[in-house]
Amino acid sequence: MSSIALFSNALSLGTTHHDMRISSSPALSASSSSDSGSDSARCSTPESVSSAEAADLSVNSIGACTTYVYSSETALQPSLLKALYEKHSNGRFLGLCMGKSGLSGSDSNWSKVTDNDVEYFISRELKVDFSMPVQVNAHHFSIFSVAGLRSVICSSSDSFDYYILERPTVVFSPLSYTPSFQPGTSSDTSAPKNTIGNIPTLEEWRTLWKAWDMVTLEMIPQEMLHQKPIDLRHKCLFYIGHIPTFLDMLLSKAIGGEATEPKYFWNIFERGIDPHVDDPDHCHNHSEVPEKDEDWPTISAIIFFRNGVRSRLAQLYDDLNTGKRTLTRNIARTLVMTLEHEGFHIETLLYMLLQRGGSGTLPPPGFTIPPWKLLAQQWNQTPVPCTPWVELGPAELVMGHDDSEGDDRREDLKYLAVDREYGWDNESPARTVHVGAFRAEWRPVSNAEFEVFWRISQDKGTGAVPLPKSWVEEDGELKVRTMYGPVPMEIAQHWPVLTSFDDLTAYARSKGGRLPTEPELRLFLDKYNVTYEEGANTGFRNWHCTPATAGIEENGGRGSNGGVWEWTTTLFDGHDGLVPTNLFTGYSTDFFDTKHHVALGASYATIPRLERRTVRNFYQHNYPYPWVAARVVYDI
Ligand SMILES: [Fe+2]
Repeated sequence: MSSIALFSNALSLGTTHHDMRISSSPALSASSSSDSGSDSARCSTPESVSSAEAADLSVNSIGACTTYVYSSETALQPSLLKALYEKHSNGRFLGLCMGKSGLSGSDSNWSKVTDNDVEYFISRELKVDFSMPVQVNAHHFSIFSVAGLRSVICSSSDSFDYYILERPTVVFSPLSYTPSFQPGTSSDTSAPKNTIGNIPTLEEWRTLWKAWDMVTLEMIPQEMLHQKPIDLRHKCLFYIGHIPTFLDMLLSKAIGGEATEPKYFWNIFERGIDPHVDDPDHCHNHSEVPEKDEDWPTISAIIFFRNGVRSRLAQLYDDLNTGKRTLTRNIARTLVMTLEHEGFHIETLLYMLLQRGGSGTLPPPGFTIPPWKLLAQQWNQTPVPCTPWVELGPAELVMGHDDSEGDDRREDLKYLAVDREYGWDNESPARTVHVGAFRAEWRPVSNAEFEVFWRISQDKGTGAVPLPKSWVEEDGELKVRTMYGPVPMEIAQHWPVLTSFDDLTAYARSKGGRLPTEPELRLFLDKYNVTYEEGANTGFRNWHCTPATAGIEENGGRGSNGGVWEWTTTLFDGHDGLVPTNLFTGYSTDFFDTKHHVALGASYATIPRLERRTVRNFYQHNYPYPWVAARVVYDI
């Protein structure tokens, strides 16, 4: 047996007890001077890169001098990967080679390291061709997420999968590692959860706050705070005040108590605006906000308030854990609703900020600028679906779940708060619907497909389809907006196109098809769409769409839709048994206006818990900004 083969065994056999030590204090010695210090000296980090081209150069050069560690498929655990990253990354990147069949004993690229009884292999000489296409390995991506890492780029050969990993500002755990809050118990996020339910722990809040603070305080420059990236919404500063205000108000509703100081914030920040696109004066109830910039609270005052509200929430968790207060369904629902409200707002704020990507909005700090050219080479080789479309139905389908807010105060139920799934009012109750047979495209309409349609429509003059708001024309060139600035269409051509329901409906008609109903799309997504847990492009794994991957035979057709919500023809409306929420009056009912359509799925900026299959998003049919795409379906 070669020494390299032995490595696999040593690590496999030793994983359990080494892992236990690594999780509390890394078993690998902390100093990296002997193994990776020289790498740090040779490599410069990409902090200063400011364009896609520079990013490509940067990743290429760093990829060339990144230390790789080898792991067999079976040996790698999140805690061990964390320790390897600490020890061998060059301060930013760690190369990882995952073996499908073990290293060859004669491979001189690798040298053995023995550290605290753990044997493993590293290489500083490995040259990896990252232009080759890859298949996402869900298990690998799940391990990276639990370890707090993300893959900047990956590649594979017959025997190995290669990754360049980094530790970004925020990483969401897969849901199977996201415990539900149970009073008096600690939340272990290093092991798969063993309870059902979706009450957030304080740790889940803290992860979300990292994302929220990064977006609001590091991606919005000072001069944009009083600007409106889109006309139909407030200025950026409003949303920074709205999130803690909403939490503060709902906490008072659930557990009583005074507003957090300064109390007058409730008057300004309670509720935002969502006017009709075709009649901006038509708006549901909302807070009156100051007219002049100088009359708004300062950002420091808002952060002071935010900190006060967060402390109030932490105190509630403390009281629940010590038994000073008893967890009720009403409190649990408040925690779920306020956390998910913040999750939704990250995405809605980001689609606003996208309009200023490259011309105001700053890219997400801590996330390496995507190596666009390399990625585009990979994306151009993404396998196409094995059939043009897939046939589904007829079928009986259960939509929604049973979680009525109306039951929360029932004497026999109000303390049965844990081990159950909470959702929004429009998700309940469960209802069975019939879906007839239909054909569905495997993948949403891509930018390239829509461009052809859009160009033809321009030649027709009247009836021309407007330029999607996710695109921009720069010097006569069509580009696709990203948080890093617009990228050429040739890079984003395979991504789903983000545009309005109306424009995508026109596209579908031109193909002799239509957009799906909500039950039809639910049926498709249930069967073929993967989640964050399974490697989907959701949960901030990337800050841009990727090409959809569904329809490949070897995965049984299952794949990611590229990280987008998808439009349906179903109007957002009431249904039998829906009990409107009293915690957030009007959350759904204000939008039963025949203008809002249901959207399902999840975008790249949707937090993993909102991939819950019962979640229903909703936007106006002619609202062009949200991250919603569509797939074409056909009647049979
Ligand atoms: Fe809100």
